[in-house]
Amino acid sequence: MALMDIVHYGDPILRKKCRVVKDFKGLNKLINDMFDTMYEENGIGLAANQVGVDLNLFIIDISDIEGEGESIHIFINGQIIDSSGESWFEEGCLSIPDVRLDVKRPEKIIFKYQDIDGKIHTNEIEGLLSRAIQHEVDHLNGVFIIDRVSKTSKFSIDKELKSIKKESLDKAKQRKAFVL
Ligand code: NI
Repeated sequence: MALMDIVHYGDPILRKKCRVVKDFKGLNKLINDMFDTMYEENGIGLAANQVGVDLNLFIIDISDIEGEGESIHIFINGQIIDSSGESWFEEGCLSIPDVRLDVKRPEKIIFKYQDIDGKIHTNEIEGLLSRAIQHEVDHLNGVFIIDRVSKTSKFSIDKELKSIKKESLDKAKQRKAFVL
C-alpha cells in the first residue's frame, strides 16, 4: 500500500487539461496507489491530477453509499458526449478540504471512456455515478466545483479558499526547493 499526497486548490496542475493516456501498460501501480489514497481520505472519487499526475484517468468507488451495491470504477480518457436533465447535489472535493457546495449538473450522461485494457465503452449513466463522473471529468479539464456555482456561493467560502490556496502554493514552492 502506498499513499500519495493529495494536491489542493491553488496548485497549477489542477488548472490544466490532463494528457490523454496512450500507454495502458504500467498504469496498475498508479491506480492501486490512487485507490489506497482515496480510501484513506474517505473520498468516493479521485482524478490523477489530484495526486499530481498529468494523465486523463480517474477512479470512483460509491459502493458504500446506500443502495448502490458494489460500484468500483476506473475510467480512462473519459468524455461526456451527451447529457440531459438537471439535478442539485451538495458536493465536496478532496482538493478543497472542508468545503461543501450545492452544484447543479445534468442528471443523465452518455459517457465514453476506455478501460484499463484500452477497450472503448459508451454507457448511459445517471444518479450518483453520473454526478461523480462529472465532478472527476471536470478535474481532468482543470475545472473545480467553485467554477460551477454562483458568485455569491463562491464568495461565502472566500476565506477558506484563500487559506487553502496559500498553503498549496507554499507547498509547491517547498517542492521546488528540493530540485537540484
Ligand atoms: Ni474533487
